[in-house]
Amino acid sequence: MKLKSLEMGRIFLAPLSGVADSPFRRICKRFGADVVYSEMVSSEGLSRNQPRSIEYLRFHDDERPIGIQIFGKDAQRMADAVAIVEEVKPDLIDINMACPSRKIVKRGAGCALMLEPEKAGKIAAAVVGATDLPVTAKLRIGWDETSINALEVARILEDSGVMALSVHGRTFRQGFADRSSWDEVARVKQGVGIPVVLSGDVVTPEDAERALDETGCDAVMVGRGTYGRPWIFREIRDHLEGRSHAGPGPVEMVRTILAHLDFGIAEFGERVATVRFRKHLLWYTRGIPRVVALRPSMSTVATRAEVSGLLDRIFPGTAE
Ligand SMILES: Cc1cc2nc3c(=O)[nH]c(=O)nc-3n(C[C@H](O)[C@H](O)[C@H](O)COP(=O)(O)O)c2cc1C
Repeated sequence: MKLKSLEMGRIFLAPLSGVADSPFRRICKRFGADVVYSEMVSSEGLSRNQPRSIEYLRFHDDERPIGIQIFGKDAQRMADAVAIVEEVKPDLIDINMACPSRKIVKRGAGCALMLEPEKAGKIAAAVVGATDLPVTAKLRIGWDETSINALEVARILEDSGVMALSVHGRTFRQGFADRSSWDEVARVKQGVGIPVVLSGDVVTPEDAERALDETGCDAVMVGRGTYGRPWIFREIRDHLEGRSHAGPGPVEMVRTILAHLDFGIAEFGERVATVRFRKHLLWYTRGIPRVVALRPSMSTVATRAEVSGLLDRIFPGTAE
């Protein structure tokens, strides 16, 4: 899939607030994620110069192509935010119309925009008008099962100049329950002329192949399926290109875990990075029987040496 001169590929890392920060995105890129996205950034926060929002804009060149995802309910604020986002020179700007968080929909942003397709179109037009970068948007399939309108919203966004869409096949009401409806995503793909990226329940290489085949979508995004498994991107690519795929061995696993932590330390400093890393450590070691007794220690690690010590016990003989 291509947007303007930007070659995008077809295996994306989904935007994941609180998970897919710069260190994790860099690791996913190493394993072949074609496109990554920032955590969603508030247009209000950006226009008020809030440090937390500005921090979300940080990325490294090895993450490219990267989309910065913004959310908001006000067209002018969103256009103002674009000017700030442009300063960090991302490859594209993505508009969040999918977030189901109560805090955000209560303010009329995120998935609440699917209740107001015209307003969604105005916001998209304002963002498109404020930049030469490709603008994309991320949707759910609707608000609830009685108001599935992703195709209607998608057409309005296409007319507003949005160059590609990603669609998570659940409604606001579903949150993360039930199966993601790939059929509804396929309906959007069939009804618009711009590329569509499928999001929702792509967890294995076989899922990715099936999603592309069954829906005709141009690309897939992997979200929760990356937790503790950033190598999923390599596995998907190998599978799609007809090669056999196996997960990493213990040495590669330990190297990956420490490289991820080291990116974090370079970004946030050792203590903050290690605390943020705890959940990743639990995910990386999920399902390994001898790990159960070490879980409490994983939840309290605060230094690289502690992480490395735990890894020596979990994966004996892999220390470098
Ligand atoms: C922890 C978490 C954070 C998320 N943050 C965002 C976000 O910032 N922006 C967004 O558009 N979607 C966000 N999503 C939704 C995902 O991008 C994706 O659409 C959804 O998880 C379904 O895909 P999956 O089954 O591959 O996880 C988030 C999902 C999770 C679980």
